[in-house]
Amino acid sequence: MVLVEVRFPAAGTFVCVPAGTTLLAAAEAAGVEIATGCRRGMCGTDAVRVATEGDGVLEAPQDAERGTLERMGLVAGCRLACSAKVRAGVVAVLGDAVLDGPVAPGA
Ligand code: FES
Repeated sequence: MVLVEVRFPAAGTFVCVPAGTTLLAAAEAAGVEIATGCRRGMCGTDAVRVATEGDGVLEAPQDAERGTLERMGLVAGCRLACSAKVRAGVVAVLGDAVLDGPVAPGA
């Protein structure tokens, strides 16, 4: 089984979860609260900024997530926690994509 490390720097914690786990499920496993709504990639309540170490750490967004991110005007580096599934490696959930602002390109 492939385990993926999901870090939550603001909370000072991390968790290792199986590939295919959503960032939201990882947060819940780590005891980190992320505000949610629909849990289906439609409302955007749980848009978060993420940083990955390398490519392919997260599965590509599916249609619902991609459409919501585009509608919200969020750039690369932002995902919906309920929809983004980990694949391999290490990912950090950096904060709320709307309240904290998206990651600037090259940051
Ligand atoms: S909770 Fe609605 S998009 Fe994730």
